[in-house]
Amino acid sequence: MKIGIGCDHSALDMKEEIIGHLKEKGYEITDFGTYTKDSTDYPIYAEKVARAVASGEQELGILICGTGMGMCLAANKVKGIRACVCSEPYTAKLSRLHNNANILCFGARVIGPELAKMITDTFLEAEFEGGRHARRVQMIMDLEGKD
Ligand code: RB5
Repeated sequence: MKIGIGCDHSALDMKEEIIGHLKEKGYEITDFGTYTKDSTDYPIYAEKVARAVASGEQELGILICGTGMGMCLAANKVKGIRACVCSEPYTAKLSRLHNNANILCFGARVIGPELAKMITDTFLEAEFEGGRHARRVQMIMDLEGKD
């Protein structure tokens, strides 16, 4: 599975941990930056990963900043993106099963690396259930064209 990942300066170490973990599991990872701890702006990386997921170039995305929130807000501005912030595995699993989320965000200043790995594994292994959830997800996506 092809996964796009991005972070800002606050989450570089966490991103490296997650990349190593996912590569060991056989995922094909594309790292969209940032690549240093120099202060930078999270919307840059949110947009890169979100566009790659929206175009189908990457199947799912992972975005990490201090809280996960800035990344999530920015990614959700790109058409076709359903990004969510998850700090525990239950929400990560349901965000895939029911919401068909396509980008996982979390905060490097909020959770530790082992919990982050568990959340990431849960998100990537869960599959959208469809059915009544497909109708609701479509209603979300229809909001994109309403303004
Ligand atoms: C950067 O200091 C911080 O604001 C950012 O990583 C993120 O938490 C924003 O949502």
